[in-house]
Amino acid sequence: QICDATERERTLAMIKPDGLLGNYTDKIKTIILESGFGIIKERMVQLDDEKAALFYAEHSGKSFFQSLVKYMTSGPVYVMVLEKPDAVSRWRALIGPTDARKAKVSHPSSIRAMCGSDLERNCVHGSDSPQSAAREISFFFGDISPAVTKHDEL
Ligand code: PPS
Repeated sequence: QICDATERERTLAMIKPDGLLGNYTDKIKTIILESGFGIIKERMVQLDDEKAALFYAEHSGKSFFQSLVKYMTSGPVYVMVLEKPDAVSRWRALIGPTDARKAKVSHPSSIRAMCGSDLERNCVHGSDSPQSAAREISFFFGDISPAVTKHDEL
C-alpha cells in the first residue's frame, strides 16, 4: 500500500484597520483562495486596548507599542484561519516585508505593497511561526479541530 501524505499547516491571517477602511477585504480573500489556501474560519473583530496589548504582548517593551495598540483599535480587523502545506511561510511570502513602504520597492506584487502604507499601517498580519500560529488562532477562535493530514491512497 502506497500513501502520499500531504502535511497541512494553519496560520492566522489578519486584515488590519487600514485594509478594511480601504475596502481590500474581498481583493485579499480572492488572492488567498487563488493561492490555494482554504479559509477554515473567519470573523470580524473590534479589538479593545486590553486585547490588542495581549495579542502583541511580545512587543510590549518596544517604543512603538502604544502607537501600535492605538492603531489596532482604531477600527475593526478581519481574522482568518488559513490552511495549506507550509501555510505560515507561504502566507508571509504573499504579504511581503513588514514595512509596506519597502515592500512597494522590493516586492511590488505583495499584499502589503498593494494596500499598506508604512511599518505600522501595513494592512495585514501573518503568524511568524507554527507556534505563534497556534497561539494566535486560539486567541481569536478558541479550540478548533486540528488540521488533518490527508492520505491519498494510490
Ligand atoms: S521587531 O521589533 O522586529 O520584533 O518587530 P517587527 O517584527 O518588525 O514588527 C512587529 C509588529 O510591530 C509592528 N511595528 C510597528 N508598529 C508601529 N510603529 C513601528 N515603528 C513599528 N515597527 C513594527 C509591525 O507592523 C508588526 O506588526 P505585525 O502585525 O506583526 O505585522
